[in-house]
Amino acid sequence: MKKEVRRAVIAGNWKMNMTPSEAKCAVERTAELTKGLDGCDVILCVPFVDIQTAVAASEGTSVMIGAQNVHFAEKGAFTGEVSAKMLLECGAKYVIIGHSERRQYFGETDETVNKRTKAALASGLKVILCLGEVLEQRQAGITSEIVSMQTKLDLAGVTADEMANVIIAYEPVWAIGTGLTATPDQAEEVCALIRETLADLYGEDVAEATTIQYGGSMNDGNAAELLSKTNVDGGLIGGASLVPEKFLKIVEAAQA
Ligand code: PGA
Repeated sequence: MKKEVRRAVIAGNWKMNMTPSEAKCAVERTAELTKGLDGCDVILCVPFVDIQTAVAASEGTSVMIGAQNVHFAEKGAFTGEVSAKMLLECGAKYVIIGHSERRQYFGETDETVNKRTKAALASGLKVILCLGEVLEQRQAGITSEIVSMQTKLDLAGVTADEMANVIIAYEPVWAIGTGLTATPDQAEEVCALIRETLADLYGEDVAEATTIQYGGSMNDGNAAELLSKTNVDGGLIGGASLVPEKFLKIVEAAQA
């Protein structure tokens, strides 16, 4: 299997932006602009409180809605957390897990990322699993070791069949929200390494079928070049996903 037959996926990560009424307008506008651009899947991962509004606004369009986190327990005394079942009932199809902001500010570790990933998959949610090195790790020349270790730890216990519902987002932490983008060659090198790690874990077929995104200051200006790389199958977009007209340009770049 080659890049041409892997599904390209452009996902927006709204982070903590957009109230429900703002979300309604932004989803409607995104759906209207991206209508007919079916060369890639389009997902918007929105704050929990926006999910139902976003799902309603996306009905009858090809835009799919996701969440930005999920707890691993089915239910119980976990104040402030949300379960996979709750997300599914609200209409979410995807969930971002392991975003660097969760790892950095909310104590997320590879262990909790792994637990959340397994619980989400077992419930029927599709997972966008984020991983990537911090600046000090890149400067120390240990990016490959870090990324390969995260891939293995975060996916521990996930089966080859379940991998059909996993997208991996390679997000170098130093490139997120900073305006610094990995060069297309840097993105390609690490996405290829993730694919090799998947091949070690699951075999070539699963590795070749898995969508691997790049994320970190991807925008309307740099998307085409990043997405032209063999192992970069899509993007996870923060800032630029908040402006439907900018997001459209990235979706257009993924049509080739
Ligand atoms: P950014 O965010 O595009 O604003 O850098 C990407 C992300 O955090 O997923």
